[in-house]
Amino acid sequence: MPRTRIYENTAAPWWRTAVVYQVYIRSFADGNGDGIGDIAGLRARLPYLRELGVDAVWINPWYPSPMADGGYDVADYRSIDPSFGTLSEAEEMIAEAHGLGVRVVLDIVPNHTSNQHNWFLEALEAPPGSPERDRYVFRDGRGPDGSSPPNDWRSRFGGRAWTRVTEPDGTPGQWYLHLFAAEQPDLNWASREVRAEFESILRFWFDRGVDGFRVDVAHGLIKHPDLPDVGLPEDALFDQERHRANHPHWDQDDVHEIYRSWRKIADTYAGDRLFVAEAHVAEDRLPLYVRQDELHTAFNFSFLKAAWDHEELRAVIDQSVTSLAEVGAPPTWVLSNHDVPRHVTRYGRKITHTREHDVDGGPADLELGLRRARAAALLMLALPGGAYMYQGDELGLNEVEDLPEEALRDPTWERSAHTVRGRDGCRVPLPWSGSDSPFGFGPRGSKPWLPQPAEWEALTAQTQSGTPGSTLELYRSALRLRQEQPGFVSETLRWLDAPRGVLAFERSPVLRCVANLSDKPFALPRNWGVLLTSDRLTGGQLPPDTTAWLWGGGAARRA
Ligand code: NOJ
Ligand code: CA
Repeated sequence: MPRTRIYENTAAPWWRTAVVYQVYIRSFADGNGDGIGDIAGLRARLPYLRELGVDAVWINPWYPSPMADGGYDVADYRSIDPSFGTLSEAEEMIAEAHGLGVRVVLDIVPNHTSNQHNWFLEALEAPPGSPERDRYVFRDGRGPDGSSPPNDWRSRFGGRAWTRVTEPDGTPGQWYLHLFAAEQPDLNWASREVRAEFESILRFWFDRGVDGFRVDVAHGLIKHPDLPDVGLPEDALFDQERHRANHPHWDQDDVHEIYRSWRKIADTYAGDRLFVAEAHVAEDRLPLYVRQDELHTAFNFSFLKAAWDHEELRAVIDQSVTSLAEVGAPPTWVLSNHDVPRHVTRYGRKITHTREHDVDGGPADLELGLRRARAAALLMLALPGGAYMYQGDELGLNEVEDLPEEALRDPTWERSAHTVRGRDGCRVPLPWSGSDSPFGFGPRGSKPWLPQPAEWEALTAQTQSGTPGSTLELYRSALRLRQEQPGFVSETLRWLDAPRGVLAFERSPVLRCVANLSDKPFALPRNWGVLLTSDRLTGGQLPPDTTAWLWGGGAARRA
């Protein structure tokens, strides 16, 4: 049974206010010592997550996969990769999590399969125009001998988005589309069979008790039927993301029909199942994905990408709250995930907004970054709606920027001809305990799949647990207060007057959050009690890069 919030807003489903903890399973905890995180490791750490106080876990893809893209190349959607465990272990994990009051959200990857998925292997064996090829996006090439790709689309990981196949008779053949790695062929969502298959996959896992799905590349499933050129220069590796209006393969209107049918399926299950969209779309288009009959929530990448800057953050907060309220969806907030540099490092730079992993932002001041990360955590957790945290946020982990080249596994590294290192630096296995690697990630003597920095000795969960002022204890206190304080239930916020650089808002007449992003200390109001601060106050003053939660005030005394 899920834990009951002390002041539960019983009318609202859990996902409207949930704190969801992202488990990048490969790097969370390794139960059998092969260096790869797994279900056994996750099960052993469920009590830790319960104690942390999260409402749910979102587990990155754990399905059988050749791991060309960290499991986002799925070979079989109804099973578990042997390196992570078995289907029965997964079922036991779901039951155990539920027993502890923690819900379980899986990652569904509908835009593409692995090139080792049976469907793709069948498509390669079948002739052009066959029903097997129609599950994917196969086209003849351009030019007299078909040797040029069908259009100019680029892969998100670099290089072109098309790969030419060799036909079964040995001749050079058609091309297939892959918006990501060549090992991730895009499915054809105009195919009824593809739609039916994914509806069946959703039911398969809903039947096993999962509480929801994070929808990978939710904005990419439908392509313009004519597959027109995007018209961007060859070297525009990531630029296509920035040119989204009327884009031929991002955010096509017909994608919403898919989510309406998914929502109907979720609604047939008891217990408020959830969909959360990974949709990289323009801010004014995001609410379309979370209309009442579509997905429930969406990640707030505008918040994640925003600089540590009061004006930018306030604008994003206002825009998110207002535009989502129009369609009746709660906002969500997120600071880090497995695709972006960890925010401790990001906030330690001069340029604090999220950059792709390829941008050299200069050296990071990790002490400053951690201070801001802690302040950002309290700011985020005080906002109405739901919040996503990435494993290791609660330990204040930094991005590992000096991984040796031979350790890099992100397909971006190869596809960019070794110019973009990719996302491995935020995927380094967690430090749990002890004074050297594997830091309790796996049994003593085991070798984690990515090397851990020696400095993480100071950041292990064991070191921080019970240590006043540690980042882990800050998160524990914050999550506990979120559950206990009635002020956190409201779905609105009210901005308060504050000097430049200070963000101050009220969640209820008795609950306030004050974040100081200026370079001067800010005097907190006297008649308010301090519930929690991200760093120490100095003589009643809130220092720069610090957030406070306040309780009481005049209203409480009047009551
Ligand atoms: C988004 C995922 O978060 C990312 O890790 C993955 O590479 C792409 N989708 C492709 O599935
Ligand atoms: Ca393992």
